[in-house]
Amino acid sequence: MNKNELFNALWDNYTAMTPSAKLIKQVFEERGEIVENDHIAIRTFNDPRVNIDVLAAPIKKMGYVEKGTYKFEDKKLLAHHYEHAEDEHAPKIFISELLLEEFSEKLRSIVSSILDQIPYSTIDMDSLLLKGRLWKLAFQDYELLRKESEYASWVYVFGFCANHFTVLVNPLKTFKGLETVNTFLKEKGFKLNDSGGEIKGTPEQLLEQSSTIADQISVEFDEGVKTIPSCYYEFANRYKMPNGKLYTGFIAASADKIFESTDVSLVEKVMGKK
Ligand code: NI
Repeated sequence: MNKNELFNALWDNYTAMTPSAKLIKQVFEERGEIVENDHIAIRTFNDPRVNIDVLAAPIKKMGYVEKGTYKFEDKKLLAHHYEHAEDEHAPKIFISELLLEEFSEKLRSIVSSILDQIPYSTIDMDSLLLKGRLWKLAFQDYELLRKESEYASWVYVFGFCANHFTVLVNPLKTFKGLETVNTFLKEKGFKLNDSGGEIKGTPEQLLEQSSTIADQISVEFDEGVKTIPSCYYEFANRYKMPNGKLYTGFIAASADKIFESTDVSLVEKVMGKK
């Protein structure tokens, strides 16, 4: 599998769970835009069987190298971002992991029980990112996880996949900056994550980001079908560094707020708004 095949397969899985992302890409293209993907994000746990290093191994074989490291104190996460060594237009890959040792025994035992169900000996670990969820779901456990970590509950339901794709705003020809993109999306009826303001980051930080709130989809649990937030679409406007090149990193404080795009309480709050 080369990187284009990987991104195409990830996009197919992602848009199956996030129909609004497919729709947004379509309305951009109807305006004559070519949509360039700035980055994707992957979520996991720091268990040695599925941690960042495990998920990063296949992308390193595709020519990606580790660049930035980020810590999220409140959400108890560690993240790395990867860039392609030769192709500067290749999307960046952001992988975060939940620091399990900082959570309760209950949370750790639920996570450990789902990771035990992965068929490590028969599965192609290089395509783990395309496998989604490889375990059974109990709504009771989802709710228990959600009380401690919204992030843990999201990975519990969706497993290994792209949590979001990101439209790079810079090359868009018919928009001037992120605010005009946001206005257009709202006019089209899409709902944005307004936690910490619609635009996270500043030109001085060299990166501005916004995102939709996650779509809501039906998921089958042992106890029956429930509707819960899936994935969101992100928009990034990057600024030039003193050397004239676009900044390629991430801002932890902004990412922290973007993470909340899958939060049930935020999604419900925003969807309640007309
Ligand atoms: Ni992102």
